[in-house]
Amino acid sequence: ASLQPHNTFGIVAKAKTMVRVKGAADVHAVLAHPELSREPLFVLGGGSNIVLTGDVKAVVLKVEVAGRTILEDGPKATIVEFGAGENWHEAVTWTMDQGLGGLENLALIPGTVGASPVQNIGAYGIELQDRFESLDAIDLMTGREFTLDATQCAFGYRDSVFKHSPARDSDFGLAGRALILRVRMRLPKPWKPVLGYLDLHRKVQESGITQPTARQVYDWVCAIRSAKLPDPRVIGNAGSFFKNPTVTPEQCQDIIARDPGIVHYPMPDGTVKLAAGWLIDACGWKGKSVGQAGVYDKQALVLVNRGGATGGEVVTLARAIQTSVYERFGIRLEPEPVVV
Ligand code: EPU
Repeated sequence: ASLQPHNTFGIVAKAKTMVRVKGAADVHAVLAHPELSREPLFVLGGGSNIVLTGDVKAVVLKVEVAGRTILEDGPKATIVEFGAGENWHEAVTWTMDQGLGGLENLALIPGTVGASPVQNIGAYGIELQDRFESLDAIDLMTGREFTLDATQCAFGYRDSVFKHSPARDSDFGLAGRALILRVRMRLPKPWKPVLGYLDLHRKVQESGITQPTARQVYDWVCAIRSAKLPDPRVIGNAGSFFKNPTVTPEQCQDIIARDPGIVHYPMPDGTVKLAAGWLIDACGWKGKSVGQAGVYDKQALVLVNRGGATGGEVVTLARAIQTSVYERFGIRLEPEPVVV
C-alpha cells in the first residue's frame, strides 16, 4: 500500500500491508491473524507528525475510528468524545457548531484526534492537556483495552507516555505499544477566552473586540495560522519541525549579549524558552533547500516538501540546520516529528 496520501509531508513510501481500523474488533482480528500477528505493527493517524525515510516494514494500522458525541453536559463542564480517526480540525469546528468553546485556540492543527495526546498538541496558549479528560486505547501486545486519565498520560511539552519506550527503570512507556481508540475532552464552563499569546492579543487590539466569542477566537486563530503556516494539502509539511529549546537564564544572557534580538520567554520553572524559528532564521535558513526539501519562507521552523522530496533529503536538511544552530548558539535543536 502507498503511504504517500497518508503522510502530510507527501513523501513517497510503501507499507507491506495496511489495515484500516474502524474499531477494537479490527485490532483483535489482526492480533488473531495467523500471518499478520507475527509482523511488527505500526500505528498511523493523520501522518502529520512523521518523516518517512523508506518503506515501512510493518503492518500499518491506519486508525479510522469515527464518532463525535456530547457525553455529559454538567454544570462545570461539557464532556465530548471523539473517535481517534476523526480529523482534529473538523472535530474542533464541530464543537464550535455545537456552541461549545474551549478548543478554539487549537483550530487548524493538522492530524487526527487520536494523534493529539501523543504529542500533547498545543498552540496560542493552550495545550491538549488543559482540555483533556481521558482516552481509551488498546494494548497491541495483549489486545487488552484500557483507559488513561491525564496524569497517566504523563503529558509534557510535545510529549506524553506514548512517546516513551517501556521499561527504563520504573519509567513506563507505551511507544509503539498502544493504539488510541477514543479521546474525551473536558470543556470548562463558563467559557473564558485565552488571549495572552502575542498574535491573539494583536487581533484584539486591531479589531477593538475585547470580549470575543469562541467562534471569533477560532476565526482569528485560523487567520493567523493560514498567514504563516503552509497548508499541508498544498505544500507538504509536518508543522514545526523542531521543539522550542529551553536554556538557563545565564545561557540566555550570553546569547542576548551577542544577539540582542533573540525571541525568548521566561518559563514558570525559572528556565527560558527560545524561539527555535528565530534561531534558524538568524542562521540564514529561510527559503534554503536540500534537494526538494526546503525551509518555509514565512516561518523558518517549518520544513516543506517542494515536490518529490525524499525523507532522506528532509533529514539531511534538518541535520544541517541543527549543526549551524549549534555552531552559532551552542544549542541542540530537537526534532518534533518522529523519523521512521
Ligand atoms: N520567528 C522568527 N523567524 C521565523 C520564525 C519565527 O523570527 O522564521 C520568531 C517570531 O517572530 C516569533 C517567535 O519566533 O516572535 C515565535 O514564533 P511563533 O509565534 O510563530 O511560534 P513558534 O514558536 O514558531 C509555536 C509552536 C506551534 C504553535 C505556535 C503558536 C512549537 C515547536 N511550535 O510555534 O506549534 O502553533 O507556537 O502557539 O512549540 C507545531 O508544533 O507543529 C506547531 C505549529
